Amino acid sequence: MEVLVLLLCLVISSIQTAAPVAAAVGLRPPAMYVLGDSLLDVGNNNYLTGADVPRANKPYYGVDFPGGKPTGRFSNGYNTADYIAKSMGFASSPPPYLSLLADNSSSSSRIHAHQLVLAALTNGVSYASADAGILDSTNAGKCIPLSTQLRYFNATRAEMVAAVGSVAVSALLSKSIFLIGVGSNDMFVFAAAEQQSDAAALYASLISNYSATITQLHSMGARKFAVINVGEVGCVPTVRVLDAAGQCADGLNRLAADFDDALRQLLVDLAARLPGLVYSLADSFALSRDTFADPQAAGYTDIAAACCGSGRLLAEADCLPNSTLCGNRDGHVFWDRYHPAQRACLLTAQAFYDGPAQYTTPINFMQLAQSS
Ligand SMILES: *[C@@H]1O[C@H](CO)[C@@H](O)[C@H](O)[C@H]1NC(C)=O
Ligand SMILES: *[C@@H]1O[C@H](CO)[C@@H](O)[C@H](O)[C@H]1NC(C)=O
Ligand SMILES: *[C@@H]1O[C@H](CO)[C@@H](O)[C@H](O)[C@H]1NC(C)=O
Ligand SMILES: *[C@@H]1O[C@H](CO)[C@@H](O)[C@H](O)[C@H]1NC(C)=O
Repeated sequence: MEVLVLLLCLVISSIQTAAPVAAAVGLRPPAMYVLGDSLLDVGNNNYLTGADVPRANKPYYGVDFPGGKPTGRFSNGYNTADYIAKSMGFASSPPPYLSLLADNSSSSSRIHAHQLVLAALTNGVSYASADAGILDSTNAGKCIPLSTQLRYFNATRAEMVAAVGSVAVSALLSKSIFLIGVGSNDMFVFAAAEQQSDAAALYASLISNYSATITQLHSMGARKFAVINVGEVGCVPTVRVLDAAGQCADGLNRLAADFDDALRQLLVDLAARLPGLVYSLADSFALSRDTFADPQAAGYTDIAAACCGSGRLLAEADCLPNSTLCGNRDGHVFWDRYHPAQRACLLTAQAFYDGPAQYTTPINFMQLAQSS
């Protein structure tokens, strides 16, 4: 207990002195909070019950992670959230929210709150959940939907305020990074529906919910948003394998591109409306399109097949302990039939942090992290 109190005191004093120090180039933001789907999930889904919940809790997930064990990341090693966090000066992604609430038989509920508050004040927290979409209806019951991730952040914030007061929390949150990457699952679910409804109506509800999410985060004190758009979802192995020639599904890619156009406009509008809001929008779509057009430029040997799976393109089944593993994991864009491999995550984070200007707008993630 005394150690925790001392730690909290140190945290408070570092928050209070953060303003002049934060201006120094290269200093990391005080914390990062992550909302989104399986591209960013670092283990929340391992804590969800339910037979259909996707969990990366078995080999060969984590085969290239330090220790070689599955961690809940849908990757052979680190994922994009980790590499973005690392590039900003953190050790890795902040820990999964549900791990900080996890029942710890040897400790009291008071310690759980401390565990959450300490993480939230010193590094941040990840609410990202595989299968999550922008809409609550997307994969309902199999994930933590975006609206619930937002409620979990609100609950975290309330614990932070109780521990160190609202002035310190506002100061910390205004300098922290809010990393958001979500939308792919809404595209998959829409495209898989037997009766195609109106795409315009889909965009309207997606953008309205995205707008509400950012507006509410802003009202809770968030100012710096790092947003990742939806990539070429029509080119993931599980979609390619549906085509006899293994080609991308153009319709699904168009669905993503049109959503991304609406998301870009939304952020322009929100930045004009919400005081102090700054953002960097990362163009996952353009990065994946350019990567698929010239794989060798980034050192890829295979852009179509998964590295862990079974059947054609190793995309006819999930990555399981009895799966086939490809020989050159770094040469594959895709690790399993939906998700990028560790090296692709690294290259993605590098592109968004301080890579070619066309992959971020209006500033890159480095400029966002270092903005005052
Ligand atoms: C219990 O808490 C410790 C740190 O306080 C953590 O490392 C450990 O993972 C927790 N146990 C479970 C089962 O979550
Ligand atoms: C956040 O929590 C406060 C109470 O602590 C509540 O009044 C507010 O409605 C909550 N906001 C959201 C979006 O959950
Ligand atoms: C998301 O959209 C649905 C349907 O359009 C709506 O019922 C729900 O209230 C929205 N959620 C938020 C947080 O705006
Ligand atoms: C792998 O194991 C699963 C059950 O866990 C089984 O359904 C599947 O057919 C097996 N796949 C192969 C390629 O043997």
